[in-house]
Amino acid sequence: MTRPFILTISNRKGGTGKTTTAVNIAAEAAIRGGRVLLVDLDTQGHSNLGFGIAVSKGQATAHDIFRANARLGVLATAIVETNLPGLSLVPADHTFDGLDSIRDMDRLRRELALPEISQRFDLIILDTPPSLDILLMNAMAAANAVLIPVLPHILSSEGVKQLIRLFFKIATSVNADLKLMGFVPVMLNLRTGLHRDVMNSLSTQYGKERIFRGIRSDISLAEAFGKGQPIQHYDPKSRGAQDYRYLWEEMLDAWPELRRKKQHSERSS
Ligand SMILES: Nc1ncnc2c1ncn2[C@@H]1O[C@H](COP(=O)(O)OP(=O)(O)O)[C@@H](O)[C@H]1O
Ligand SMILES: [Mg+2]
Repeated sequence: MTRPFILTISNRKGGTGKTTTAVNIAAEAAIRGGRVLLVDLDTQGHSNLGFGIAVSKGQATAHDIFRANARLGVLATAIVETNLPGLSLVPADHTFDGLDSIRDMDRLRRELALPEISQRFDLIILDTPPSLDILLMNAMAAANAVLIPVLPHILSSEGVKQLIRLFFKIATSVNADLKLMGFVPVMLNLRTGLHRDVMNSLSTQYGKERIFRGIRSDISLAEAFGKGQPIQHYDPKSRGAQDYRYLWEEMLDAWPELRRKKQHSERSS
């Protein structure tokens, strides 16, 4: 039995393209035939809006698993289908304040390992909050790898350092399987010397092979989100669509385990 590959998209800073990357990579993988689940763990995040999905009051969400009285299996009941074949979503609860949250680091991993989820998907993408709380730690504890979108700006380095510290902590304690997939510069403009400098310094610190080419600044990414569509549907010829396609190809090249065996179109056959 193959298990899904679990990728967490994280940075300890907000506004670094985590949600945009999670939504568009999930869409790209599904368009190419993967069976993909996107889990939105950010109470301020809006992955659901990226697919034009509204969350109604009382609907099950990703955050239900962190409540003290939650039953194992509740995450699977929160899955909704997007209008993109092969892509399912677990929305966030924007009213979750964490006050009665459990402190268990392993809660998400156990939910994702249940057959209702692990046999149904090839790829699980976790969109995470920037705050250092139990939600982010659960994501890191559950994942096979972490992908870090970064703004190529001097002020963004602290968020990256904090995330890397957490990465080492988790990788040397609860999740020895966790790997650093690498960094995706977003809102990139390589004509700016500063952007080049920041990317060079990341490359020196973490290795050239861990720096993806990145996503250029493209307003259509924000527009697509506003229209509730992944960029590949909203404007497949845009720079954003090209860059996310290329990113997924780079990821496939570097991580053969992302090349899935089953395709969602085979489900019914
Ligand atoms: N490559 C890009 N070019 C232009 N705008 C972008 C790009 N990536 C993200 N954005 C915009 O930047 C803002 C923050 O992105 P978001 O993905 O929500 O970040 P995070 O989830 O890390 O907080 C959003 O308004 C988004 O539409
Ligand atoms: Mg976000």
